[in-house]
Amino acid sequence: MNNKVNGSLWARLLATPNNSTSKIVVVALGVCLVSSILVSSAAVLLKPIQKQNEELGRQKEILKVAGLYRPGIDITDGFQSIQTRYVDLHSGQYVDAALLENQAAVAIPRKEDIAGIGKKMRYQTLYLVASDRGVDTIILPLIGKGLWSTVHGFVALSADANTIRAVSFYDHAETPGLGGEISNPSWQAKWQGKNVFGMHGHAQIRVIKGRVNPSSHHAQYEIDGLSGATLTANGITNMVRYWLGEQGFGPYLDRIRLPAKGGMMHE
Ligand SMILES: Cc1cc2nc3c(=O)[nH]c(=O)nc-3n(C[C@H](O)[C@H](O)[C@H](O)COP(=O)(O)O)c2cc1C
Repeated sequence: MNNKVNGSLWARLLATPNNSTSKIVVVALGVCLVSSILVSSAAVLLKPIQKQNEELGRQKEILKVAGLYRPGIDITDGFQSIQTRYVDLHSGQYVDAALLENQAAVAIPRKEDIAGIGKKMRYQTLYLVASDRGVDTIILPLIGKGLWSTVHGFVALSADANTIRAVSFYDHAETPGLGGEISNPSWQAKWQGKNVFGMHGHAQIRVIKGRVNPSSHHAQYEIDGLSGATLTANGITNMVRYWLGEQGFGPYLDRIRLPAKGGMMHE
């Protein structure tokens, strides 16, 4: 019965002249419906692959700052040499991975929110590279506002929890040739060997405007600016200072830096 009705509707549609308004509307709606089903099915079906590629992209950035990336390596294999840890930003203590699941983001008070992110998770993931002698490199995730976009990054610190081994700023939409230069490997290389914290333990690291004067007392905390991109550069300074400071991984870094004061060196 239903088939008969459908059949006669289809036959009536075919019999309708092509320049009839109702046929044009019906065909246009049909094309829209089929296209939207195709697009949404593709989006749903490709989601897991997209997630997997995002994760591989993150792992590649981590391997890069760890100094373990070589073109052509298998990222998943290479990542086996990285240890993943979970940390409570408040206490600086390691926590169980289960605490990260389903945790709700906490709002950041406006005056503390120098990274411009609005909210953050209390329990965070970090990465370690260890050798026989103990932890060699601590890799911390970064997130903050540039000029136009949210910038993601990683900073790799030496075991002193102060000297920068490498940085990576990726996954952003700053203007190519201006703010986009934060992803330029030769600019990122300028961070290598710089110190984050000054004598009193405050984060001093910053991207300056212009070139660093090597004879300045502050040279060890300063990175050359990006010409025409001071606003993005300021965002990078604030992002790095936020995540390495008291509201970010500061308590964790204090704990691993001061084993004599009750901290537990890395474990
Ligand atoms: C189309 C356009 C895109 C821009 N993109 C950026 C950007 O991505 N990052 C940035 O800091 N400044 C960008 N600027 C420049 C800023 O408005 C601002 O002038 C600059 O950050 C100041 O840096 P300077 O003091 O080094 O010149 C852009 C300007 C224009 C007109």
